[in-house]
Amino acid sequence: MRVIAIVNQKGGCAKTTTTVNLAAALASDGARVLVVDLDPQAHATLALGIDPDNVDENLYEILAEPGGGERLQEIILEAGKNLDLAPSGIVLSALEQKLASERVDARTERLSAAVDSLPEGTYEYVLIDCPPNVGLLTFNALRAASEVIIPLETSRFAIHGVDKLLETIALLTERVGHDLTVRILTTLYDGRTRFARKTLAGIRETFKDMCFDTVIRVNVKLREAAGRGRPIASFAPSANGAVDHAALAVEVEASPPVQQPEATLAASPVQQAAREVVVRFRDAKANDVRIAGDFNGWIPDKGVRSLIESDGQTRVWTKILRLAPGTYQYRYVVDGEWREDPENPEAVSSAVGGRNSVLVVS
Ligand SMILES: Nc1ncnc2c1ncn2[C@@H]1O[C@H](COP(=O)(O)OP(=O)(O)O)[C@@H](O)[C@H]1O
Ligand SMILES: [Mg+2]
Repeated sequence: MRVIAIVNQKGGCAKTTTTVNLAAALASDGARVLVVDLDPQAHATLALGIDPDNVDENLYEILAEPGGGERLQEIILEAGKNLDLAPSGIVLSALEQKLASERVDARTERLSAAVDSLPEGTYEYVLIDCPPNVGLLTFNALRAASEVIIPLETSRFAIHGVDKLLETIALLTERVGHDLTVRILTTLYDGRTRFARKTLAGIRETFKDMCFDTVIRVNVKLREAAGRGRPIASFAPSANGAVDHAALAVEVEASPPVQQPEATLAASPVQQAAREVVVRFRDAKANDVRIAGDFNGWIPDKGVRSLIESDGQTRVWTKILRLAPGTYQYRYVVDGEWREDPENPEAVSSAVGGRNSVLVVS
């Protein structure tokens, strides 16, 4: 069972559209799919034709009570052939309050416990639609998932806030001790505008292999389908929106999550050629300094060894990277702020805003 969370703290970047239509496309390819609607606004529930106000029990009941997860199956509704839904409701917005007094661990693992309680073989895919913030519900989704899809819209300034999201994922990876495979999906693409083409190029240049090849084009039928409570695959099967989500499903099917990195890396000749590269950041005021670049999927400090030393007033962060020969772009994340390396004159302006420092490993 592959559990995939669709995450971005920004609203309107097509999380729900991606969740519902990817789920329907996977289901029409014959996979059994469960959509978990974790957004109190219940847009995915509505987009699958179910009125949240007419649902007896929703995810709140499952997540609010200790051990409630074992009842997940009882709230699941059928939303189509091979396609089920764990519905949301506005009451889900009270969950954070309800669980406030519990240990962090206990309250963030509610959904993963629920998903684990599903009998083996019930679903091939579980797709989790997240709310537009990184609160308790999104943490629950990330804990339950082993894969993350971040939709980025190419119609507006897409990259804003992705740095924060990657930081959250990095933090969480540390805390839950499981790796998350993060992939970027470009959405709301209108190839007629120069802005969209530039944004797409910038996203690809920044995130490289993390990007799906599939790009979801702007297609008004997607909005109409959601309004009618139907996935695009059945509402308008020949529309661009249906074609694009079918292509996305094929890509998802073709790329099972990466196995333990150590195992795959050891066998890879590229990694054998990797060597340790050291960079340093000096600052008197900073408390937390991480490094993110195309070498670690822009997830701050992922796969990086850090040493902190004091040099009089100044603190020195030493970052030890393992890199194969090549050219890399990176930035420091200094107390949550993304900055270029002040000691490295080599930098390029990033098509998605700001400047990235450049490191060449020969
Ligand atoms: N590719 C697209 N073409 C046209 N409209 C889209 C597309 N993707 C999403 N939309 C519309 O944009 C709005 C926001 O999308 P939604 O999936 O609800 O975003 P989120 O869940 O991230 O808030 C919705 O009205 C949706 O129907
Ligand atoms: Mg949504």
